[in-house]
Amino acid sequence: MKVVKVSELERMAATDSKLFRNYFTMLRFQASGEELQTLTNLMTVNETYFFREEYQFRCLVNSILPDLVKRKRNGDALRIWVIPSSSGEEPYSIAICLLERWADLNKFDIEIVASDIDTRILNSARQGLYSDRSVAQMPQAYLQKYFRKTAAGYQLNDEVRSSVEFTRVNLSDRADTRSYRHFDVVFCRNLLIYFDDVSRKAAAETFYDALQPGGFICLGHSESMSRISSLYRVRKFPEAIVYQKPIE
Ligand SMILES: C[S@@+](CC[C@H](N)C(=O)[O-])C[C@H]1O[C@@H](n2cnc3c(N)ncnc32)[C@H](O)[C@@H]1O
Repeated sequence: MKVVKVSELERMAATDSKLFRNYFTMLRFQASGEELQTLTNLMTVNETYFFREEYQFRCLVNSILPDLVKRKRNGDALRIWVIPSSSGEEPYSIAICLLERWADLNKFDIEIVASDIDTRILNSARQGLYSDRSVAQMPQAYLQKYFRKTAAGYQLNDEVRSSVEFTRVNLSDRADTRSYRHFDVVFCRNLLIYFDDVSRKAAAETFYDALQPGGFICLGHSESMSRISSLYRVRKFPEAIVYQKPIE
């Protein structure tokens, strides 16, 4: 028996579908895929905030980047992929940490790409307008420096906003991830907990293909790559445990 979820009932009413069967046919065969995207947007859990699991950003600046740049020359690209980005707090926190805490920032050509399956939340990320709750963990000095308080909330400045490129990607769709290559660091936090074992393993393989040899992956605090895949080396840094694609 198919249990119809509230979000599906809502969309059945909005699309005037009397039976679930009619709605399902529309989801499968609509050429534009618009209804599937609308339903996906309704079903996602977008919980996030600035400086969530901040110890990993300290690990990035103090341990991961110094390790990575040993294999780089001045002027080389350094590419970070944040998936899922949700409304942008995580990739923007990374951008702010690099601006504030990484002395070698100007020696490299930094690129931050942030992806999510939810197009509605990506639009909100590009806008960069945040609630009190979103910025509650952010150091006050950074809040004052990079945000403007408006009647609608905290507006992130254009310099930080333009340093992150947002793209729509379904991590479980190989066609979506195929062109994501040559990254030095991947942040994939608080998504794999929602995946089953098969999808987690596929995600580990996707990241393996997306990373440069010697590249790193950071997961959420309750997630462990060792339980998912043996493709990576465990690296225990003082700030956090992260995973590395072998150099050879
Ligand atoms: C709980 S948020 C995590 C956000 C952020 N990484 C953090 O840790 O604060 C989970 C996000 O995963 C996104 N998501 C769910 N399934 C996805 C998939 N297959 N591919 C890409 N993003 C996905 C959702 O849209 C949602 O924004």
